[in-house]
Amino acid sequence: MNDKDHLIDLLIHDLSGPISVVATSAGNLLKKEDRYGPLTNRQRQALERILRNASRARSLLTELVEVYRSDEGLFDCRDFQVKDVLKDSIMDALEVGDPSLAGKLTMIEREDAFARTLEEHGIIVEYTGKYHDFPFFHDKRKIQLILKNLISNALKYRRERISISVSGDLNLTLSVIDDGPGIPEHEHEAVFKRFGYSKDKTGGGAGETSGLGFGLSCVKMLIDAMGGEITLQSREGAGTHFIVHVPPHKSTDKKEAGE
Ligand SMILES: Nc1ncnc2c1ncn2[C@@H]1O[C@H](COP(=O)(O)OP(=O)(O)OP(=O)(O)O)[C@@H](O)[C@H]1O
Ligand SMILES: [Mg+2]
Repeated sequence: MNDKDHLIDLLIHDLSGPISVVATSAGNLLKKEDRYGPLTNRQRQALERILRNASRARSLLTELVEVYRSDEGLFDCRDFQVKDVLKDSIMDALEVGDPSLAGKLTMIEREDAFARTLEEHGIIVEYTGKYHDFPFFHDKRKIQLILKNLISNALKYRRERISISVSGDLNLTLSVIDDGPGIPEHEHEAVFKRFGYSKDKTGGGAGETSGLGFGLSCVKMLIDAMGGEITLQSREGAGTHFIVHVPPHKSTDKKEAGE
């Protein structure tokens, strides 16, 4: 480990404490009015915003940890159901993109009711191939991170709909499509570079929805480390389609999923 890695370790470690304090304190003010006093609507909105952004900061730290673990070739592999991970990824993305829908969905236990509510909000999920039922063998958190980032972007840019599909019979194939403004073809390489392309750059400061330009570079790094690939199909004005292929992790003491 070099000096830079140590510094990043320290940064990740030392930032997680204060972020948790901010999140817990804002959460207490919101949920324990009997103890902390009543809130006006504007105060409530400001606190909700603090909470949302603390959760963004926290997920960014998690992403950094995962990316650095990938760099060192560290994988925490096991069999998992893609369905569960997809559900968690959608929830992660909605916590930031549409917290009120996220709140509504947490109350829903039945799978069909969950899918119906998503559809009512323009989020379509489809499964084909064996990973509807069959477990996939890999590092679950990395798959979750990849999906969360692609879904967050799709939610941020869609006009009305996004559609997410899971397919594949050996390699896992994930696809996320939206009907938003698209990405010009000459920028397709740049979107995968850190701070490489952002349509919002000139658009107006560090607003809550203007991202850090970090997500897709993390996604690409993770997929490369997993021996997979990501492709982008998009034209300006014609929506965006990301397709990810990931092979099951080859482990010496574990047979590949499905064999
Ligand atoms: N689905 C999409 N539709 C249109 N543009 C997109 C889409 N996904 C990504 N982009 C463009 O690519 C840029 C880079 O995306 P990336 O996810 O890396 O960063 P971000 O979303 O801006 O910030 P972060 O993910 O770090 O919060 C975005 O700023 C946006 O301009
Ligand atoms: Mg993003």
